Parts: sequence; structure tokens; C-alpha cells
Amino acid sequence: MKKVTIGIFFILLSLTSCKNESSIETSKTENRGRIAKKAMVVSARVEASKIGVEILKAGGNAFDAMMATEMALAVTYPYAGNLGGGGFLVYRLADGTKGALDYREKAPLASSKNMYLDNDGEVVKDLSTVGSKAVGVPGTIAGIFKAQKRFGKLDVGTILKPVIELAKQGYTVTKQQEKRFTEYDSIIRAVNGKKMLYNNTIKAGDTITNLALAKTLQRIANNGHDEFYKGETAKRLVDYLQSKGSIITLEDLAKYEAKWRNPITFQYDDLSITSMSPPSSGGICLNQIMTMVEPFDLKDYGHNTLKTIQVVVEAEKRAYADRSFYLGDPDFVDIPTETLTSAVYLEERMSNFSFRTPTPVDSISHGKITGHESDETTHYSIVDQYGNAIAVTTTLNGAYGSKLYAEDLGFFLNNEMDDFSSKPGEPNYYGLIGAEANSIAPEKRMLSSMTPTIVEKDGEFHMSVGTPGGSTIITSVLQTILNIHEFGMTMQEAVNAPRFHNQWLPDEIRMEPNSFDDKLVQQLKALGYNINQTRTPVIGKVDGILMLDDGTLEGGADKRGDDTAVGF
Ligand code: GLY
Repeated sequence: MKKVTIGIFFILLSLTSCKNESSIETSKTENRGRIAKKAMVVSARVEASKIGVEILKAGGNAFDAMMATEMALAVTYPYAGNLGGGGFLVYRLADGTKGALDYREKAPLASSKNMYLDNDGEVVKDLSTVGSKAVGVPGTIAGIFKAQKRFGKLDVGTILKPVIELAKQGYTVTKQQEKRFTEYDSIIRAVNGKKMLYNNTIKAGDTITNLALAKTLQRIANNGHDEFYKGETAKRLVDYLQSKGSIITLEDLAKYEAKWRNPITFQYDDLSITSMSPPSSGGICLNQIMTMVEPFDLKDYGHNTLKTIQVVVEAEKRAYADRSFYLGDPDFVDIPTETLTSAVYLEERMSNFSFRTPTPVDSISHGKITGHESDETTHYSIVDQYGNAIAVTTTLNGAYGSKLYAEDLGFFLNNEMDDFSSKPGEPNYYGLIGAEANSIAPEKRMLSSMTPTIVEKDGEFHMSVGTPGGSTIITSVLQTILNIHEFGMTMQEAVNAPRFHNQWLPDEIRMEPNSFDDKLVQQLKALGYNINQTRTPVIGKVDGILMLDDGTLEGGADKRGDDTAVGF
């Protein structure tokens, strides 16, 4: 492997011009992503990764860097980075303690099971996806404060200072951002009644500042968590939301709490995997799929070969069928986690698997019941110089969430209410189907697929990984872990490798276009699999960190986005 020493070359590059930024202490090899000796942040934007590293270098730890990175994503990546959304954190402390934090949005107190149905009991188009009725009570600020308060080392003012500066000074728009601002301009304008800060006049290379967001962040820096949930920001937010017809009240904000959860932990070969528990389906589904594929010799079959794809797809089908029926907010529904993840149950689930033909979807579960999430989320991974590791996935749900932009406050509001089943048992707006366990109720959290995951090997930290991608999140995380563990890839190779996805219903294998050999696609079709290579141009944007044998860290920043690893 060819080694390139990073020196003055990197200093000369602009903020947005490279995928892997670092200080002089790091180096990059041909097949590996950025290598760092002590600490690393990998996120969807170079500025967010840099600010996270800046906080680490100032003596902060992963939880301080989480607050800074998450808020810097809200500034530079309004597509998914947010104050108006929610997320999940999975952590592993230097002493090996593991845990999880749920800062998922909640249904407002005035919400009701049939709130998205008309008088005939039909789902009203767009109501749960666009505009004020789609907004769930945001959890992001509660989440970053709860994590930082318990584990962080720095004061909030120090952490938010560079983020506020970034919002004031601005950041450089990338080509991908220009494309998205153009694509979503008309709907953002329609929802808000006028052109917003993010619009189709913005071109790649332009600098965007967000002074309203800088002021909001300054108030939060001054007054803390309560500023967002009880203070001036809360009042302005509720006034604004209600002027747009939202049912969210000051009481909703005041009552919101992020919650510590016991993560899902399981073994795969010699790996110990920790992932997010409900209200995310990520950890349980990942556990189910990995346990179902473990008896098969994937290494021998090879990466993305016919046999590997068959085994993985059939396991995915069965896990997603269970997900659809059983999973929801654990504070509201009883989830049979132990059974769903037991080896005996999962062996039985795979007992009718055959290499000769696909298992018909109708024969797999209780009925046509599945959940829905959309694709626009973001993930970041951080390992600090003290040995703490975190995996965080955060979302507004759709691209720019509900498209509702609180101009005065400088951020978009989520449309996470659409992650509930608007009408259990029937297809929702996106043609997907929901279940009773995930029906709407006041203060309930909607089911998610977000899968922030930490992997240990021999009792030591091995990998932090996660991705956006809606229902494809789980299968992208799965393939990234398998790519490293079974197929010997580097972190960067594992992240970049072509991905496929099956979620039981619709009955198809989604494959990244122009990424798989045509002969393989034909073989799958000949066996009876429906192949969809058009639904989405990319499946996930994985950001991960792998600890190498010599104790250095390799960042995997997905080539599909502007994602960047920064370390020292
Ligand atoms: N809104 C995407 C998810 O939570 O899975």
C-alpha cells in the first residue's frame, strides 16, 4: 500500500475540496481512508468534522464533540442536520461501558391515532409529510445536552462558540448542495409562502451565512437546554408553529425528555455488537439478520456474489417482516425482544430458506404489515483521544423535514410524524404499510430504522458505524460490518462498496444502479427475484471509524456524499 504523507498540501486545500482532512500527524494510504493516531470525527460535512476535532483538541471528549458536530451539521447540512429533529446515540466509554440515548421526536399531546385520515378513513395526502401537521416535538437539543451533561468535560459556551462563528462567517456550498437547493426550492417556497434562505439561486462555491441560527445558538449557549424547551426560543418556536396550524404547544416542549435506553447487544463470530434499541428498529433487525446469516459461510461465497446476496436478502426479508408487526415505542408497546433475537427462533425463521428459489413474501409473516421511513438522515462517528467512541444518527426525516423553516430561528422542522403508521394495516402515502404497534398516540415516539452501532473485538473498541437511508439504514450498516469482517475490506472500501437491500415488502431487491455485474443481476432474476435498480441512486451514506491492529484509526467517509473524516 502506497503511503502519502500529509503536509503543506492539505493546508493549501480549501475547506470543501477533499474528502479526508487532517492535521499533519495523520497519513493516508491508497485503499484506506484517513488514518489518525489519536482521535477522529467522520460526518457529512468537512466543517462539522473539523469543529468536532477542534473541540477534542481543546481538551473535550467525544460527548463535547457530539454537541459541536451535531450543531455544525445543523448549520452546514440543513438537509438533515438539525435543531428541529431528533436522533439516537450509541456509546462505548473508554472503560468498556456501553449505553444508548434516545432523543427521538414525540407525537404532540393533541395528536390522535386517526389525525391523518379524512372522514372516509382515508389517509390525507401530504398531511403527515409536509407542513406544520407533520412536525413531531423535536428532541435534538435535549439529546445533545443530556449526553454532554453526563459525560462531557467542557462548558457549553466553549463548545458552541466555533459553531456560532461558523453560522456567522458562513460555509462554502458544494455541488451536491446546489443540486438539492434547486431540487427542493419550489416545495420549500410553497410550504413557507416565500423564498427562504435555502433556495435555487445558491450556487456551488457561494458562501452561506445563517445569522438567525447564530442568534438561536447564542441564546442556547447562554441559557442552556431550557432555552429551547421553555425559554424565548421555545416561545418563538411555538408562536411560529401555531401560526402555521401546528398542534404543538409550550407544554409539549416543556415535557420533552431525552431517555437513556439499554442498547441491543449481541455476538457475531468474535464480534460484540452494540446498536440502538426501540423506538429504533435498527438494533433488533441488525441482530436478527446477523444471527440468521451467521451459520452460512459468507467468506467462502465471496462479497456480493449470488449466494451471499441470496442469504443476506432472505434474512433481511424475515427481519423486516417481524419489524413491521412487532416494533414500536417501548414505552407504549410490549416488544418480545428476547424471542425475536433468540438463536432458536431465528434458526426456525431461516428453516425454509433455499438457494433454489426465493421464499415467497406471503409465506413469511402475519400479514402485509411494514413500516416506513424516508431517506434523509445523517450519521457521524467520533472516537476521542481518551478512548471513548460514539455513533450518532440524527434526522429531520425527509429532506429538509416538513420543509417548514422557522426563519426567525434559522432552522427547519422535522416531518417525523410520517414515521408513524397513519393507518395501521394499509399502505401509507409512500405505498408502504404500517402496523398497530406503531400507531399514533400522544407523547409516543415513532418507529425508526436508525442504527448507530459500535462493534468490539476481543473486548476492545473495533468500529463505530452508521448511515442515513431510511429503511435501508439497517442493511447498509450490516453490509459495512460484513465487508470488513467477512470480506477483509478496509473501512473506506467497506463504506464505498456497492450495496443492495431487501425489506420484505415491496417484494424486490433494491440494488445501487451501475454497481453490480449484469450477469449477477440476470442470475438473481432467473431465480425469481424482482430487481429494482432505479428506486434510489444511492443506498445510504455510511460514516465509520475502524481501529486498526496498531491502534490507529481509519475513517471511512462515504464517497456518495460530501462526507469527510478529520483526525489527529
Ligand atoms: N426518519 C428515518 C428513521 O428514523 O428511520
